Amino acid sequence: MKESRVSTLSKPLATPVTTNLPYPAMRMRRMRSQAPLRAMVRETHLRIEQLIYPLFLIEGNGIRKPISSMPGINQQTIDRALEEISELIAEGVTAILLFGIPEHKDAEATGAWHPDGVVQRATRAIKEAYPDLLVVADTCLCEYMDHGHCGIIEDGQVVNDPTLHILARAAVAQAQAGADIIAPSDMMDGRIAAIRKALDDASFEHIPIMAYSAKFASALYGPFREAAESAPKFGDRTSYQMDPANGREALREIELDIAEGADVIMIKPALSYSDIISKAREMTKMPIAAYNVSGEYSMVKAAAANGWIDEKRVVLETLTGLVRAGADIIITYHARDIARWLKQDQQ
Ligand code: PBG
Ligand code: ZN
Repeated sequence: MKESRVSTLSKPLATPVTTNLPYPAMRMRRMRSQAPLRAMVRETHLRIEQLIYPLFLIEGNGIRKPISSMPGINQQTIDRALEEISELIAEGVTAILLFGIPEHKDAEATGAWHPDGVVQRATRAIKEAYPDLLVVADTCLCEYMDHGHCGIIEDGQVVNDPTLHILARAAVAQAQAGADIIAPSDMMDGRIAAIRKALDDASFEHIPIMAYSAKFASALYGPFREAAESAPKFGDRTSYQMDPANGREALREIELDIAEGADVIMIKPALSYSDIISKAREMTKMPIAAYNVSGEYSMVKAAAANGWIDEKRVVLETLTGLVRAGADIIITYHARDIARWLKQDQQ
């Protein structure tokens, strides 16, 4: 209340001044009458530096395969990815997130932690060619496991603690390859502490962890699983990813990841979970990331392709909404388009 009082000669007025005078004294439309005025009082701005653009890497050479459910997004070999990266850097994108699709999948997720795994090789090549580009490595096992789950399977169950060791190993391999940020997406308990310790023991105490803290078991990952060929061969991910109905539990996950040493916490998916983003924003001073996931992207692309929506306006409106909710960082497949649009709008 104190701040809302206007004082004259340091003496508070008898009546506190409220900003919510009713009509006709207050007319909200006054400040909406002209574009420069609207721009002047605009509260939220989407910046290209906030965005992280995902890439899907396959083994081999000279291949770029479109992902049918994600128009504009491809699986590609490292050489082709380097070509795309030079374009997106020119467009203004400053950060990428790497996913790997190995030729050979097994029950130990070898490709996830082997120095010659596709993400590790790509990271070395990318950081050599473009040292200033921020490379985020998604740390998970599902793309590399023959069964498609994010952890080790014993007696038909995804077992937690044996998985931690292999996740930590994957994170260290990614850091050794030159990854700037490690982003564990598996949802095992205790993985942030395990990965932090492994990174520190390997002298990567300077490498931050962006934790997929509140990751829900969402139908909106459907197109990604085509892109990453990571759909589970049996069952689903509900024994480790969160129930979409649970908001308080999401905040507990976030608190735990902060306590275990996360540097950034993430909420995923983004659009149906902006209540969680906003509650997390009130709860913590940590940087918050939101993952605008594949299904969210595909729905927009499909409607736009049909001429049903104005793609640019819808994308900028929804992503600005995420920033308004409290996100500092947004992982989005729209990042390249947004970079172009924001540049056009400046000209
Ligand atoms: C792997 C992973 C997934 C996504 C990011 N990392 C899929 C899943 O958990 O099944 C989803 C990303 C998207 O849908 O865009 N653990
Ligand atoms: Zn996974």
